[in-house]
Amino acid sequence: MCGIIGYLGRRKVLPILINGLLRLEYRGYDSCGVSFLYNDDLITVKTKGKVLELKEKLDLLTESTIGIAHTRWATHGIPSEVNSHPHTDFLNNISLVHNGIIENYESLKKFLQTKNITFRSDTDSEVLVGLIFYFYKGDLKEAVLKAISQVVGTFGILVLSKNKREIVVARKGSPVVLGIGEDEYFIASDTSAIIEYTKDVIYLNDGEIALINDQGYYITDFNNEIIDKDIDTLSVTLDQIEKQGYKHFMLKEIYEQKDVIKNALAGRIDLKSNSVILGGLDFINFEYLEKLKRIVILACGTSWHCALVSKFIIEKYLKIPVEVDYASEFRYRDPLVDQDTLVIVISQSGETADTLAALREAKEKNAKTLGIVNVVGSTIAREVSCGIYTRAGPEIGVASTKAFTNQLISMWLFVLYVGQKNNLISIEDRLKIIKNLSSLPEIIFEEINNSVEEVKKIAENFKNSKNFLYLGRGINYPIALEGALKLKEISYIHAEGYPAAEMKHGPIALIDKDMPCVFIVNKNNNYEKVISNINEVKARGGVVISIATKGDVDILKISDYVIYVEDIDNDLTPFLNLVIMQLIAYFISDLKGCEIDKPRNLAKSVTVE
Ligand code: G6P
Repeated sequence: MCGIIGYLGRRKVLPILINGLLRLEYRGYDSCGVSFLYNDDLITVKTKGKVLELKEKLDLLTESTIGIAHTRWATHGIPSEVNSHPHTDFLNNISLVHNGIIENYESLKKFLQTKNITFRSDTDSEVLVGLIFYFYKGDLKEAVLKAISQVVGTFGILVLSKNKREIVVARKGSPVVLGIGEDEYFIASDTSAIIEYTKDVIYLNDGEIALINDQGYYITDFNNEIIDKDIDTLSVTLDQIEKQGYKHFMLKEIYEQKDVIKNALAGRIDLKSNSVILGGLDFINFEYLEKLKRIVILACGTSWHCALVSKFIIEKYLKIPVEVDYASEFRYRDPLVDQDTLVIVISQSGETADTLAALREAKEKNAKTLGIVNVVGSTIAREVSCGIYTRAGPEIGVASTKAFTNQLISMWLFVLYVGQKNNLISIEDRLKIIKNLSSLPEIIFEEINNSVEEVKKIAENFKNSKNFLYLGRGINYPIALEGALKLKEISYIHAEGYPAAEMKHGPIALIDKDMPCVFIVNKNNNYEKVISNINEVKARGGVVISIATKGDVDILKISDYVIYVEDIDNDLTPFLNLVIMQLIAYFISDLKGCEIDKPRNLAKSVTVE
């Protein structure tokens, strides 16, 4: 978690660091700070609070051209100025920003204290800079190497000393990318912080350390062996990561869903043969499919909800049993997977620590792995055996929206791809599915336009509610879970999602006039059953908000509010219901004046366990 950025070059450093931090704030935003060299002194300025507050404390015209900065999501120690980064040793010789966790910091701290090294904060990161200081005899890289050899845990670090114009960068478990400009270098925890300056980047792998100075850079492993790395070219544009007139990134990203679906499908569908082309799935050949006994899908948060929907479509069309697990649970239970299991990991960021660890566990057990990942070049994307990029573009709002949609599109592409390889999905069915998927952008565009006013009315009426219940069945039950998650994430209203039939086994006890119940009630096989559940709620004085199929007039009689979605194939209704869930959460939170793009306590990319 946390965002880090560093710069060494000819430009004034503070505007670059502040700009970078603003772009990285989605990774953590409880405190932030910068360190820079000024007249051979190491100056550090920090603040508890957001980057704009830090900016107020700085003179951006300061003549310094080298520095490091950090925006924090607290793990060890409360959010406070003293606990925020950069951390310096007690004599202010060395400064460090750190993303990750030093697990053995307590024993290291005790050791350093016996060497008269003192500490001010409660953080594990300050211990790391203390350790680097302890080993420092004039060669910063050597000191960093010695220090990290003592560390148990994860880190992406940038280190600066007051004596020299150089930055040392090291990675184990937390992402770091080096951007290369003309006689200038940008280092960040992800590319959104540097995209406006350069497109040429090098991703550091775990176990790599770089030294950057005015002469250039070089990268070695932790044994000091030089590593030759390729320079990648970024395809993301600055425009893609700006708000473009929307009040919040989340709203922009909800609207963008119509566009990003097109991106995910572009070039992947051959309309002549109605087949799907996925270059990243090379290993899936017929022999492999024949041996394949099961699929395990691992993910966290919203991506986990996508995994739940995916189970329905994979089992229905490919007839392969699917298990869905929380990545964080899978890795700690000696899971039963082997070479005949395909493990699919879903992750927007491609950096979620639990998902990454679960992926590594699966690989240890010889499973083939497939990643459905949004961030190109992210750690998960690089470590899976093969994958599908979701092509949702940068997602800045902490609450995931368009990434979910494109994860699901990618899953459909996977199903079609495997279905055509093993002849399980007929050409007619493929045609139908491809046509339906291709029509989604237009339908979603119309849906947002048609439903916004009704959603705003609902938001106005329920913004002060304390609890919400979200209910759906079958393939839409995970969408009910996602609706509840979206609402609690950004509005802080307590919400629970349930399969509708489970309501009678507990949640029904909560129903009264103060409990709005959002029902997903599309016309499908379970329609009558959900109607019964709605009646059960009405009979107990509950308030019903129905997401129903266009043309269903009966639903009006038993609902307090109805939002209609297009009448499409039931397997695709999650796309449409999902958008309504996102809008409800968004407009309620907006009316409550919540910080929608940066909800309290959350972070976009959770790189700690
Ligand atoms: C965090 C975010 C969620 C996200 C989850 C998984 O908790 O706040 O929005 O769904 O991580 O992230 P991933 O990047 O792996 O999809």
